[in-house]
Amino acid sequence: MGLKKIKLLSGEFIPEIGYGTYLEKGVDCYNGVLEALKAGYRHIDTAAFYGNEEEVGKAIRDSNVPREEIFVTTKVWNTDRDYEKAKKSLEESLERLGLDYVDLLLIHWPANEKQFPGKSNEINLDTWKAFIELYKEGKAKSIGVSNFYLHHLKNLINNSEITPMVDQIELHPGYMHEELLEFLKSHQIICEAWSPLGRGNLLTNQTVINLANKYNKTPAQILIKFILQIGAIPLVKSKNKLRIKENLDINDFEISSEDLDILKRIDTGISYKNPDFIDF
Ligand code: A2P
Repeated sequence: MGLKKIKLLSGEFIPEIGYGTYLEKGVDCYNGVLEALKAGYRHIDTAAFYGNEEEVGKAIRDSNVPREEIFVTTKVWNTDRDYEKAKKSLEESLERLGLDYVDLLLIHWPANEKQFPGKSNEINLDTWKAFIELYKEGKAKSIGVSNFYLHHLKNLINNSEITPMVDQIELHPGYMHEELLEFLKSHQIICEAWSPLGRGNLLTNQTVINLANKYNKTPAQILIKFILQIGAIPLVKSKNKLRIKENLDINDFEISSEDLDILKRIDTGISYKNPDFIDF
């Protein structure tokens, strides 16, 4: 079916839709990744914190899809945001995944001032320094961040030799980050969207349902297409075989710019985690 690929600052290419595995565990995770690879996904997103890297790695091996055709992302968890620990974290992730390299390594959340007064910038830079070395060693073909807002990104960009290649943030209708998206675009940093379905909540939103009826697609397809049309990479999660397929069937329509604007303004009523105030 051929998913489009987008070039990263590293020169590597990332498939425009990813299969997310947050909260997927054990056999469900294994089956989900296997189904996703069968359906045509070639981009799998996991994290040390998800506790499912072994299942992800096994599904990749059992799929018989050549390793080089699959784009694998993992992330370094908050307790490992430190030069030595970050390096060790990737070694352990590779071991669990059964891989020699990942395609993308992300800092899962930035250290913040609330938890580390006067030190958060330094901690993030220390972690980033380890990432740059892992990138140069080829253990991570591309490196980036997750849940980083403008000021977190500027700290890395202004104080190190390598710009993050990706920022993975929560992004969906009703939770736009216009200024951040502009900044990412102007720096050629690719944005990935976690919870593109609004943590599932937007599937029953009346505006989304009305647009689904208008375009003769499902609410999930509208939400996934929305992310693609605003230039980001949706990371889609589903344990269900039919929905895994449904979520890739988005190439036969375009949402008009008026309808994109309507989606952007949806009021979700969800209360969001601000990376500057998280305490985990
Ligand atoms: P399921 O695994 O049963 O398909 P988000 O990515 O915004 O966090 O949303 C994830 C949720 O959306 C999951 O609970 C998933 O449930 C559900 N989901 C994923 N794809 C679809 C779909 N096409 N239709 C309905 N629900 C979906």
